[in-house]
Amino acid sequence: MHEGVYREFEETIAAGERIEPRDAMPPEYRATLIRQIAQHAHSEIIGMQPEANWITRAPSLRRKAILIAKVQDEAGHGLYLYGAAETLGARRDELLDRLHAGRQKYSSIFNYPTLTWADVGAIGWLVDGAAIVNQVPLCRCSYGPYARAMTRICKEESFHQRQGYELLLALSHGTEEQHEMAQDAVNRWWWPSLMMFGPPDGESPRTERSMAWKIKRHTNDELRQRFVDIVVPQAASLGLTLPDPLLRWNEERGHHDFGPIDWAEFHAVLRGEGPCNAQRLGQRRRAHEEGAWVREAAAAYAARHAARPAG
Ligand code: ACO
Repeated sequence: MHEGVYREFEETIAAGERIEPRDAMPPEYRATLIRQIAQHAHSEIIGMQPEANWITRAPSLRRKAILIAKVQDEAGHGLYLYGAAETLGARRDELLDRLHAGRQKYSSIFNYPTLTWADVGAIGWLVDGAAIVNQVPLCRCSYGPYARAMTRICKEESFHQRQGYELLLALSHGTEEQHEMAQDAVNRWWWPSLMMFGPPDGESPRTERSMAWKIKRHTNDELRQRFVDIVVPQAASLGLTLPDPLLRWNEERGHHDFGPIDWAEFHAVLRGEGPCNAQRLGQRRRAHEEGAWVREAAAAYAARHAARPAG
């Protein structure tokens, strides 16, 4: 493929060094990155919705302040990522149009409802925990601006994960009802969290190419296993159980075995048939339309300043 033309690119990848925006790169590498970074950015901004749903109902001022800060962080992550996609020549407005038209994906996980306050804890502990396991290796990905954005995002995600863990710990050791609410949230979020890592390796069309280009540093199944191994002891410390009767330590493999994932559910969610797909996309489109005046005002302001002579 593109023999000779991209020799420097191939050498940079082989040496484990970074590709930067002005470097020559195969069009497929550029397209793969734009797709993955855009999906990632979309996930961050759609991911604000399930938790924002609880801001007005947070049980204390402290919890409310933490939740607002967390949801704002997700917006910031979206901005860094759209910025990283722009360094590849993508236009932010076009990426958003594709999201709104249902032509570009966002993470399956955000199509599930947040039914109780404990869901805020389960999202922090499990969803942000899974995001960290998936995203820490992306800090070493071959494309410089993506890797650098991920470094900052991962630092913030680890705060999100801890706040979720701490919230669940308080509920788990609270009243009987609070403990039950925490357990119910974990029961509902466990399997969708495992699906976040993507299809099994044998059915993941993108993995091989993305691993060769060092965009992905581990396969979907490797990261899913890592997550399970991290979370099992944490569940025990929380005094909560994970809803999988087949979950057990396998001495020979040095990992936990776990039960089969319902991939039919995963594919249904990706087709737009999850419990909240229509609601999430509808709310996103509405927010975009209602924000049109802000974008117009910012563009008018920028144009006026650009036209003004310097000095
Ligand atoms: N939800 C939605 N789509 C998914 C999911 C998922 N959980 N898992 C895989 N897919 C999509 C892929 O994006 C790909 O889409 P395509 O049709 O545009 O090609 C398709 O299913 C096939 O999957 P893979 O071949 O495994 O694709 P890929 O190599 O891109 O791996 C993965 C998927 C692991 C999600 C990768 O894209 C990635 O690491 N992305 C960055 C992290 C990210 O986006 N996280 C978002 C959630 S975390 C958060 O926002 C808090």
